[in-house]
This record gives sequence, C-alpha cells and structure tokens, in this order.
Amino acid sequence: MAPRRKKIYEGKAKILYEGPEPGTLVQYFKDDATAFNAQKKATIDGKGVLNNRLSEYFMTGLTNIGIPNHFIRRLNMREQLIRQVEIVPLEVIVRNFAAGSIAKRLGMEEGTALPRPIVEYSYKNDALGDPLVPEEYIIAFGWANQQDLDDIVSLALRVNDFLSGVFFGVGIKLVDFKIEIGRVWDGDFMRLIVADEISPDSCRLWDIKTGAHLDKDVFRRDLGSLTDAYTEVARRLGVLPANATNIKPTLIN
Ligand code: TMP
Ligand code: ASP
Repeated sequence: MAPRRKKIYEGKAKILYEGPEPGTLVQYFKDDATAFNAQKKATIDGKGVLNNRLSEYFMTGLTNIGIPNHFIRRLNMREQLIRQVEIVPLEVIVRNFAAGSIAKRLGMEEGTALPRPIVEYSYKNDALGDPLVPEEYIIAFGWANQQDLDDIVSLALRVNDFLSGVFFGVGIKLVDFKIEIGRVWDGDFMRLIVADEISPDSCRLWDIKTGAHLDKDVFRRDLGSLTDAYTEVARRLGVLPANATNIKPTLIN
C-alpha cells in the first residue's frame, strides 16, 4: 500500500504517521512480533488488528475512569488516532506476581505473589537491551524528575488496579505489564499521560484456572499460536463477538 502520509517513526510493532491535525498522530499496528531485543522475529497474521482493538479497549477504559492517555479514536482495523506526546525514555513495569526477568534475577518461582505491586523502570534503548535503571539514574540523567516519577508511579498503580480488575472479571490474572508515558503541554503546563499501547504484547496474562499463557510469552517461549491466545483475550473481553474464535481477525472491522 502506498503511504498516504508522512511516516514519523517506525518501531518494532507499530508505525507512527503524521496526523490530520497538529498535535495528533496516526498509530498503525503491524503484524510483526519481536522478542529478546529483536533477536527473535516473526510476522503473526492478525496480531496488529487484535492489538489495535485491545489497546483501544483498555485506553477507552482508562479515559472512562479519568486516567489521562493518548488515545483519541480508532480509525480502521489497524490504525488509531492518538495525541502526539514526547515519550519519556522509560519502560514503566508493574509486577503483581514474579515472572520473567524478576523471577530470573531474584531466583523466584514464576507465579509467586509479590508483597505489593512493584514498579520498576527500564531505559528504552534497544542497543543496550532496555536495561533496568534505578530512580537515581533517571533523575541524574534528566529523563524525568522526582515529581514526574511520583506522577508516573501514581499513574502506573492506577492502571494496574484498573487492568487487574478488568482481567480478573474474565478469568485472567494480570501478572505484570509495561506502559510508556508521554509528556503533553497545555501552554506552559506539562502533563504526563499514558501512551504507546496496552495489549497482550506488553502484559503477562495467565488464565486463572489453567495457568495458560495468553500473552507474548506464547511467542517468546514457543508455546503455541499467538493469534489464538490474543483472540481468546479479545473474545473474553467482548472485543470480538463471542463466536469469533474461528473467524480470522482480519475479517472483523
Ligand atoms: P520482563 O519480566 O521481561 O522484565 O517483562 C516485564 C513485563 O514488561 C512483561 O509484561 C513484558 C513487558 N515487556 C515489554 O512490554 N517490552 C519489553 O521490551 C520487555 C522486556 C518487557
Ligand atoms: N520488545 C522487546 C523486543 O522486541 C522484548 C520483548 O518484548 O520481549 O525484543
């Protein structure tokens, strides 16, 4: 397809195009999946369509409970209109149960409940493998100041409470997730809002009854069909019709 508008940025799973008005962008969800800092790559039929829908669902939910975020509206199967933000160069990770890198780092069994939700930060830098960084680095290098970090923790914990509840309601345990934060200006006044995406690419989701993985670990760990896992999440949330299990996501608008 010939590009209709100016490409602003291309990441591993999404492309950003110039939006119709100043201060807006069009976010396009690709079918590409990567893991381990793009050492493992694949194209997964329908993933972009599902993540566009799912991110719309979660961001709209955040808006409904007053958590500011970049989502304006979905445009079509793969694109949504978003507010342009200046991305804070951090991956903000919230963990409820041990899994992935914290389980490895601390020798914990995956699934162990944490004493409280833990918020941690990785510096967004693919070449360095998104290293975990302490607040001290973030403030010293000026990626965010103490007030920003207080606001970021508060946003992250609110998002955690919201998402944990939504997932629990459909029999899914929210083990952990990652969000990104953007800065927007209203005149001289700067605000921090939730940006990027919220989807099974950026969460760990386990079926409460069976423990089955319904997230990108299916791809990272070769556990089966990623599209089937994401379709199941979408179906349970009512983002796809209940009988959609056998319908290719690309057929649904
Ligand atoms: P981790 O256990 O590998 O540190 O991942 C924690 C959470 O963050 C998990 O839900 C997956 C998500 N995540 C991303 O969205 N992008 C990334 O690049 C990484 C490493 C993790
Ligand atoms: N997003 C990272 C990558 O593309 C890592 C991950 O999600 O596992 O490699």
